[in-house]
Amino acid sequence: MTDRPKILVTQKVPDPAYPPLEAIGDVEANMEEGNIWPYEELLRRGPGHDYIYSLLTDNIDARFLEACAASTPSLKMVANMAVGFNNIDVETATRLRIAVSNTPGVLSDTTADLAFALLMATARRIPEAERFLRAGKYTGWGPLLFCGADVHGSTLGLIGAGRIGKLVARRSSGFDMKVLYYDVYRMQPEEEATYHMTYMPMEDVLGQSDFISVHTPYMPSTHHLISESELKMMKPTAILINTARGPIVDEKALVRALQSKTIAAAGLDVFENEPAVEPELLSMENVVLLPHIASASLKTRTLMATMASDNIVAHYKGERPPNIVNPEVLE
Ligand code: DGY
Repeated sequence: MTDRPKILVTQKVPDPAYPPLEAIGDVEANMEEGNIWPYEELLRRGPGHDYIYSLLTDNIDARFLEACAASTPSLKMVANMAVGFNNIDVETATRLRIAVSNTPGVLSDTTADLAFALLMATARRIPEAERFLRAGKYTGWGPLLFCGADVHGSTLGLIGAGRIGKLVARRSSGFDMKVLYYDVYRMQPEEEATYHMTYMPMEDVLGQSDFISVHTPYMPSTHHLISESELKMMKPTAILINTARGPIVDEKALVRALQSKTIAAAGLDVFENEPAVEPELLSMENVVLLPHIASASLKTRTLMATMASDNIVAHYKGERPPNIVNPEVLE
């Protein structure tokens, strides 16, 4: 590696991320907020950098990685500013000995806050009620006006019980909710007791819960984990919340389930073909739609941003990047 590595930052990120990178290398950065480089532009700009600081909007696929690995200088690492790294072909990166890192932990509480807020907003029809008021339709208190579902005392079903799932469970205890969960990894009994979570097979979690909140990573085995048959297992009063990754839920099947009242409502922060949203969802009153903002508090996004920089700096200094996801490349 040359003394000063070349670093590419693909989107505008919180300011504190830049100084640590500028201290070690020559930084080329996309500074235009909201300007997401299309794939072809990424492919044109990526090669010739030692480090790529990426966002979940960047498709870091085999073609891109191979082009970056074959260039001079060759790519050493992709540091993703996200806990999820399904936008990166880690297998190809590993084969090419390119390190990949993510930003786990720092966003868990903020994401759990938003998952719970979305659950509350959907259950109590908050955005719909606000639209109604702003439209000048509120003519007086009504016994049936915007009656929604109670959150307190209800049953929450978690599909995925990692860091974020457990923190959603913790929030639900203030609402006296019963918490069921399904995960490929069952917790130890002591941990289940700590979080007051009861393990069940997925079909039982789906069938017995009033709210189903998805918290699995996205990978081939979780693609369309919630599809037509799973939606049919839910109660007709059930509310589905997804703050994980869009393609875990079959969005077309969800539209059909909402239209046929197979389930009652949905709160979505992520979409199958993000940023595109199934057009039918946009006109449904019983869905709450957010633009992937679960980790969007300034404090958390700043922590994520500096964490991604720290991973690059550690790799450059010959240290183990604290959040490397393919440590085998260091061997
Ligand atoms: C992530 O980090 O994977 C979230 O989806 C965005 O914060």
